[in-house]
Amino acid sequence: MSTGRTVSFTRGVPPTDAFPVEEVAECAGAILRQDPAVLLQYGKSAGYLPLRQWIAEANGHGVDDVLISNGSLQILEFLSQALLNPNDVVFVEAPTYDRAITIFRRRQARVVGIPLQNDGVDLDAFEQALRQEKPRLFYVIPDFQNPSGATTGLVKRRRLAELAEQHGFWLVEDVPYRLLRYYGEFEPTLLSMAPGRVLQLSSFSKLLSPGIRSGYVLGPAEVIARLAKVAEDTYITPVLPTQGIVYEYCRRGHLERNLPRLRDLYRPKLEATLAALARELPEAHWMQPDGGYYVGVNLPGDLGSQTLLKRAAEAGLVLTDGNGFFPEKPAAAFVRIPFCGITISEVEEGVARLARVYRELRR
Ligand SMILES: Cc1ncc(COP(=O)(O)O)c(C=O)c1O
Repeated sequence: MSTGRTVSFTRGVPPTDAFPVEEVAECAGAILRQDPAVLLQYGKSAGYLPLRQWIAEANGHGVDDVLISNGSLQILEFLSQALLNPNDVVFVEAPTYDRAITIFRRRQARVVGIPLQNDGVDLDAFEQALRQEKPRLFYVIPDFQNPSGATTGLVKRRRLAELAEQHGFWLVEDVPYRLLRYYGEFEPTLLSMAPGRVLQLSSFSKLLSPGIRSGYVLGPAEVIARLAKVAEDTYITPVLPTQGIVYEYCRRGHLERNLPRLRDLYRPKLEATLAALARELPEAHWMQPDGGYYVGVNLPGDLGSQTLLKRAAEAGLVLTDGNGFFPEKPAAAFVRIPFCGITISEVEEGVARLARVYRELRR
């Protein structure tokens, strides 16, 4: 049994001290007074125009290439409705974001996992799969992937862009963590490499607040128009007041100033996670993320995932079922450590508990 408080390695949420409460409150008051006729009314399904314009400009696109919704996961749902038919094939990294698998399957797509390596998806396996299947899209999280922390390298990005053009599938590039880079240089986006074949999703959840539910997609205007129709038929208009707050927050330059603060808040937590793993679990395998929210850990040996969850819970460590991140059952037990939302001492205690449970199960 554990002593001390339960540690949770479950959800990728920001810590409360990451929220810029005063700035958000000020922006809310200012924008609601300035633009009530638009923000408190039904509006366009593609989102608040000034924020669409701000996002378009920041990314070197036209405003018709942008749709904003109530979080980026909602847009993934719209994309699935607009692009997928039952039995379509969707390629994903294995592991990948568990909720994305759920959304594709709900649309009755066949989800095929391609093994992920340190520097992105295994291209030999990807090309082998392309000889057997004709995917409608490849869902990829190239920067500080959820759940592994891996970043796709430049060579692989180029090849994926080429393959998408050659084979005519969509690259759904999901980049909610991209700006949370703690070390090294930015890689170019897939969107910059193959603008006609990429739909890039991103979000203010991890940069400002998940509660404001503001995410967006950048892509070819004709696809954005189709998504806007699905959005309109779903909710008429997304939640506009929070989009107004995000706009005002960005316009005042707060986002730009908040990024270094977030990087300074999260970098030591990543370092503590990697140090704890090296100290407590040297026999495990993990990737060395350069940013983001997660370190994914493979535990060698034949551990039942349910047994691991149960024993960890008894030891005061709550885990997410690692199998959920894979379309097919993985060869080794997988544990995702979302290090941003917890304290360094919780990270250290959690990894120590994981190591103890692992050793007991291996005995
Ligand atoms: C890869 C990825 N995509 C999308 C989302 C959903 O983000 P949002 O809050 O914008 O819906 C998450 C949230 O954790 C995520 O990790």
